Amino acid sequence: MIIDTHVHYDDEAFDADREELLAKLPEAGIGRVIDIAASAESLDRVVSLTERYDFVYGAVGLHPDEVGDLTDEVLRKMEVYINMPKIVAVGEIGLDYYWDREAHERQIEAFRTQIRIAQAHGKPIVIHSREAAADTIAVVTELYGKGSPGEHMPRKGVMHCYSCSPELAEIYTKKLGFCLGIGGVVTYKNARKLVETVERIPLKYLLLETDCPYLSPVPNRGKRNSSLNLPYVVRKIAEIKGIDEEEVIRATEENARRLFFPEG
Ligand code: NI
Repeated sequence: MIIDTHVHYDDEAFDADREELLAKLPEAGIGRVIDIAASAESLDRVVSLTERYDFVYGAVGLHPDEVGDLTDEVLRKMEVYINMPKIVAVGEIGLDYYWDREAHERQIEAFRTQIRIAQAHGKPIVIHSREAAADTIAVVTELYGKGSPGEHMPRKGVMHCYSCSPELAEIYTKKLGFCLGIGGVVTYKNARKLVETVERIPLKYLLLETDCPYLSPVPNRGKRNSSLNLPYVVRKIAEIKGIDEEEVIRATEENARRLFFPEG
């Protein structure tokens, strides 16, 4: 089965046809999806989708653009939700210096705070990092590197929509034990760095994701994305690595299960 490890089906982009679209996923081979919270308002929406659909799991956290809303009340809510059996991770959390909506200090502090919640509950994290490579690796090394609280955690997390260099990818995976989320961007013409990353990094570190409604792969680039587009990403990864599409699906399913679904 294909596991889409990063979706935003709670987004208003799906308001008109959410039910119909979600109903199509299982028969299209999309066996599980993880709906990732971004804003404080999305936390409840994520939980209610996981209650409504068997194959929808969730992650709770505030995106770096939204950390102005990370109040004590929101943190308490996250602490409650993270104990629910279908809430499998903390995310998406991290640093975004592209939109730069919150001060860097505030983003870093909120990133650390949310990582501590994940670590206290033994859950993996889903990292969003844009134009912030140096500070992201610094925080991740501080909290998951040698001698840190997270060093021996069996399940650390994923660099969502990985976009840094192949060299940094080696450090995140082999040295720090993180996975890389690969989505539609890998099919884009200007994705040379990402293609090189997928070539170099062993399959056991790669996860499939859409980030839908965003980042549709070619040939649907620019349209609303959904998990139904993941076969294009599978095909591209298979082509880059010179292996069968089946092998990509099998390995990424196993990786997603290891990271997010240790109980099967
Ligand atoms: Ni996302």
